[in-house]
Amino acid sequence: LQVLSVASEVYPIIKTGGLADVAGALPGALKGQGVTMKTLMPGYRDVEAKLGAGRTVAVFDDLLGVEAEVRAVRSGGLDLFVLHAPALYDREGGPYLTALGYDHPDNWHRFAALSLAGARIAEGAIEGYAPDILHAHDWQAALAPVYLAFPKRKKKTVRTVLTIHNLAFQGNFAPTIFGRLGLADEAWSMDGVEFFNNVGFLKGGIYASDRVTTVSPTYAREILTEEGGMGLGGLLRERGEAVCGIVNGIDTGAWNSADDAMLPATYDAATLDRRAVNRTALLEEMGLAPTQGPIVSIVSRLTWQKGLDVVAEIAEAIVEKGASLIVVGTGDAQIEGAFQKLSVAHRDRIGVRIAYDEALSHRVQAGADAILIPSRFEPCGLTQLYGLRYGCIPLVARVGGLADTVIDANYAARQAGCANGIIFDDASPQSILTAIDRLIEIYQTPGPWRAMQTAAMGSDVSWTASAELYANLYRDLMKDDAR
Ligand code: ADP
Ligand code: GLC
Repeated sequence: LQVLSVASEVYPIIKTGGLADVAGALPGALKGQGVTMKTLMPGYRDVEAKLGAGRTVAVFDDLLGVEAEVRAVRSGGLDLFVLHAPALYDREGGPYLTALGYDHPDNWHRFAALSLAGARIAEGAIEGYAPDILHAHDWQAALAPVYLAFPKRKKKTVRTVLTIHNLAFQGNFAPTIFGRLGLADEAWSMDGVEFFNNVGFLKGGIYASDRVTTVSPTYAREILTEEGGMGLGGLLRERGEAVCGIVNGIDTGAWNSADDAMLPATYDAATLDRRAVNRTALLEEMGLAPTQGPIVSIVSRLTWQKGLDVVAEIAEAIVEKGASLIVVGTGDAQIEGAFQKLSVAHRDRIGVRIAYDEALSHRVQAGADAILIPSRFEPCGLTQLYGLRYGCIPLVARVGGLADTVIDANYAARQAGCANGIIFDDASPQSILTAIDRLIEIYQTPGPWRAMQTAAMGSDVSWTASAELYANLYRDLMKDDAR
C-alpha cells in the first residue's frame, strides 16, 4: 500500500511542534505494516539548505501562479518530496511566521500550493509513482483532499485521509482568495470550502476527505461538542463514522534513555539510580539549589492552550510547597515575561530558559522528577509520553490525549501497580496545586515513587499499536467503494 503524506513540518528536518514529530515518525512505524509512506513538504530555505538539491521528479510551470518543482530526497530513512517554490518558501522566518513573529501574509498561497502539489502528485504528476491514499495533516495540507474532490463529477482515483492535530488552527482566510485557488466554482459552498463566508482550509478538508482522524480518542469526542468543536463541531458530527481518534506514539529510538548521547548519564528501568546524575546536572545547568523536593518541569509552547498562564500565577505557591520549577519554552510574550520575572525573584527554586532547545528538552526529561502539563485542551500531547519513557512522572489535566495516555495514581491503580502519573481536573490553580500536593506525598515515599517511575518507563508509548490502527484504516478505505 502506497501512501503520500502531506505535511508542513517533518522532524528532524524542521519542527515547530508535535506535528513534526508525528509526520517524521509515522513513515518508519508503518514499514512493519506493509505500508510505504512518502512525504511531501515545503522547500523552506532551511529545509533546502539542510537537504541539498535532490532529484527533480516533477515540474509545475504554473502552480497557483508560481513556478515550482518537486525534488525527491532521501534523508534519515525518510522518502521526501520537497516542493521547491522559491517565491513561496525561500525567505526569512519560520514555516508560518516572519522573523518578527507575524503570519506570513501569503500563507494561504503557500499552503494552497503545497496542497495542490500533493493532489497533482496523487493524480500521477511523478512518473512511476501512483499512491493509493493521500494523507493530509492539519489545515496547511487540508486543501489537498479538496482539490481531489472537486469538480465533483471528476472520477476519484485516490482515497483521502485528513488528520487534525489541533482544531484551533483552521486556516481561515478572506473570501477574496477563493478565485485564486483554482477550485471549481461549486467548491464555494457549504459543501466545500465556504465557512461563515470565509475560505476555510480545514473546514474544506473535513468536508472532502474520505476519513478524518485526530490524535486521540478523547479529543475525537471532544471536538464533536459545542465548545471543543471550535465552530466545526456540527460538520464533524455530520461526518459521523468517518471521524476517529488514534493516539500518537513517539520515536523510541530518538527517545531512549539507555542510549541518548544528549544525557550526562544513560539509564534504564533497572538502573534508575543513575538518573540522579542527570538530576544533579540539570539543577546545576539551570542554576538551581540542590533540593530534597521534587523538580517539576515544563517543556512547552508557552501559550493559553497549554495553561501556562495559570502556572505562572501559582509558581510561588508551588515552590512554597517545597518543589522546584524548571520551564523551557517560547511563546506568548506575557507568559515568557512572567516566568522570567519569577526566575529572578526565586533564583534557587525557579529556572527558566526562554528558548527552543531540543537537547535541553532531553536533559529535562531525564533529570526532572515530574513534567507538568495543565493544558486547557490537548489533542494528544507528546511531552507526557517522553516523560513516561524517561521516568519523569507526568502531571496532566484530564483532557484529550493526556487523559488517554496517563494512568492516575489513584488507590486502585497503585494497588495494581500500573499508576504512571497524576491526573487533575483542569487548568485551575486549585486543581494544579492539589496535584502538586499529591506528587509531593508520593515523592516522599521512596518505594511507591520508584514503583510509579518503573511503571511509567514500562508504558508502551511506541508507535506499534497506533501504526496498526492507521494501516487498518487505510486498508478499510481501500475496500470502500463509496464514502
Ligand atoms: P504541541 O504540538 O501542541 O506544541 P506536543 O506535546 O504534541 O505539543 O509537542 C510538542 C513538541 O515540541 C515536543 O516534541 C516537545 O518536546 C517539543 N518542544 C516544545 N517546546 C520546546 C522547547 N522549548 N524546546 C525543545 N522542545 C520543545
Ligand atoms: C498538535 C497538538 C498536540 C499533538 C500534536 C501532534 O500540535 O497541539 O496535542 O500532540 O499536534 O499530533
